[in-house]
Amino acid sequence: MKENLSIFDLTGKTALVTGGAAGIGRACATALAMAGADVAIADVNKDLGEKTAASLRELDVKSFFLRCDVSNEEQIQTMISSVVEVFGKLDIAVNNAGIGVISDQDEIFPKNEWDKLMAINLDGLWLCAKYQAQQMIRQTPTEGKIINISSIAGVVSLPMSNGAYDASKSAVIHLTKQLALQWGRFNINVNSISPSYVLTPMMSRTTLKFRQRIRDTTPMGHIQRPEDLYGPILYLASAASDYMTGQNLIVDGGHTLGPWIEPARKREIPPPNQR
Ligand SMILES: NC(=O)c1ccc[n+]([C@@H]2O[C@H](COP(=O)([O-])OP(=O)(O)OC[C@H]3O[C@@H](n4cnc5c(N)ncnc54)[C@H](O)[C@@H]3O)[C@@H](O)[C@H]2O)c1
Repeated sequence: MKENLSIFDLTGKTALVTGGAAGIGRACATALAMAGADVAIADVNKDLGEKTAASLRELDVKSFFLRCDVSNEEQIQTMISSVVEVFGKLDIAVNNAGIGVISDQDEIFPKNEWDKLMAINLDGLWLCAKYQAQQMIRQTPTEGKIINISSIAGVVSLPMSNGAYDASKSAVIHLTKQLALQWGRFNINVNSISPSYVLTPMMSRTTLKFRQRIRDTTPMGHIQRPEDLYGPILYLASAASDYMTGQNLIVDGGHTLGPWIEPARKREIPPPNQR
């Protein structure tokens, strides 16, 4: 039976996760390492980044931290060359680094805040993908997996969000399609994942009442945990998704399916891993 799952095995693969020190990025890095990949953690937070890399090494894979602010093109280029210097190649890249805002007042939202958010969430992601693809194209065999982290905010407009965040995430989904269209000829798959509200440091600013409302409007009955992304990330990083490209995988426990006005009829039994 185990051999049948080798399609998900990442032994011998090398990966890079931006914003990998905490939250969703850390979960992505952990899933990749659990499947056998060596993982580089790129982040602006050195202390947390070093800790995450150390926790991955405990899974018997290679991992190291490198400081990179994805709004800086030069640092992105150095990030890619550092990964290649240490690991010899780059097979999988997760472009996760991003910032959120809690401000639903676009009429007064400052332009400099818009620019800062776009520089990280959109321009930075595009630059990361560009240099990752250049590296993957140079390699033999020419192939790669690029996974961009968007959000359900890129698909529907969210309360506790704003135009800059939603527009950046929407743009990531469409950028993913265009890059997939162009880079299929190099055997590079480009897909995105759109999580819903995930319990990460980014979400820590939300109120308990807000979180209860999310539970009430999520058929799967609980707020998304970072671990809920292990399966989706592994799927898109592995041979299991070789024929899938340009797609946006919505992972939201059913939150965007429609139960906005009436609370959803939720799962009444605990999920399998909590029984
Ligand atoms: N938490 C959610 O509910 C949620 C939902 C959908 C999508 N997302 C998206 O997932 C991604 C990760 O979110 P999260 O909740 O884990 O956030 P988080 O704030 O908990 O963690 C983000 C990580 O990215 C790093 N980072 C921030 N700016 C950076 C930069 N300029 N360069 C490099 N690293 C940087 C931070 O230091 C941190 O380690 C973001 O793109 C976010 O928009 C989050």
